[in-house]
Amino acid sequence: MPVTQMDAPARRTFLAQYAIIRHAEGRGSNDPEYYRALPWRDLSGKNSGQWAIRARSYRHFERTVLRDIERTARRPLRILDLGAGNGWMTNQLRQRGHRPIALDIFTDERDGLGALRHYVLPLNGIAAEFDVLPFRDGSLDVAIFNSSLHYSSDYRRTLLQVRRCLRPDGRLVIIDSPVYTAAEHGERMRAERRAQFESTYGFRSDSLGSVEYLDEPALAAISIELGIAWKRSYPWYGWRWALRPWRARFAGQRPPSRFFILSGQFRGAP
Ligand SMILES: C[S@@+](CC[C@H](N)C(=O)[O-])C[C@H]1O[C@@H](n2cnc3c(N)ncnc32)[C@H](O)[C@@H]1O
Repeated sequence: MPVTQMDAPARRTFLAQYAIIRHAEGRGSNDPEYYRALPWRDLSGKNSGQWAIRARSYRHFERTVLRDIERTARRPLRILDLGAGNGWMTNQLRQRGHRPIALDIFTDERDGLGALRHYVLPLNGIAAEFDVLPFRDGSLDVAIFNSSLHYSSDYRRTLLQVRRCLRPDGRLVIIDSPVYTAAEHGERMRAERRAQFESTYGFRSDSLGSVEYLDEPALAAISIELGIAWKRSYPWYGWRWALRPWRARFAGQRPPSRFFILSGQFRGAP
């Protein structure tokens, strides 16, 4: 049974507005093959550029962080896919022989947990939120936020839940969340994004109070407060992507976010 801590009206508003935005972006498909091909190919052709980036991040994660964990564990891993969306990563991890669980508050048939039915292998999905994880203490090997941690409204609260559920040698992984050098650049991105939603859809999509970005000082503070030793791993997204900071500088714009994979282990109990 789903448990909830979020304010119920805020949650309803978020889910209704999120569904409108994702639908307008052309997410999802009636074709099961669309889901099975993710993240390698976007058979709908509607968000191909974005899926190409997501695929590079995921491939890099598989070849570096995941392979490293697999070498040490030598058994199927219990992996939590937090904010799993349509469950494509849960499917990839299942195909690799692990025991993943897709967790999300969005149960939409095309873009949320409802889409789990499209995959060939049966997948485990749980409708729950980041801050109330329905798992026993120390019961998970790996917790992954793939393009989702920045939806949290309080990283400390969210990551404390993850720390409780992970085994003492468990691993926390963050993929495809935007990281800024300085918080002020993240704040500017958030203001721009909300203004853009307002002009396109007539709402700002801010009901959950999501932080929406990570920044270096916040990462350092979280590391100290929660006892996380971070490791970074940098996927290569091509020259066009690599030159974004220079283009922004010449155009007099704020620095763009960077994307890298963060993997962390918690050092001891609180
Ligand atoms: C951008 S999508 C990413 C989906 C998927 N991980 C992927 O890589 O394509 C972010 C997901 O996080 C979910 N989400 C946001 N806040 C959440 C929360 N507090 N608890 C659980 N899921 C949440 C959203 O419903 C959404 O499905």
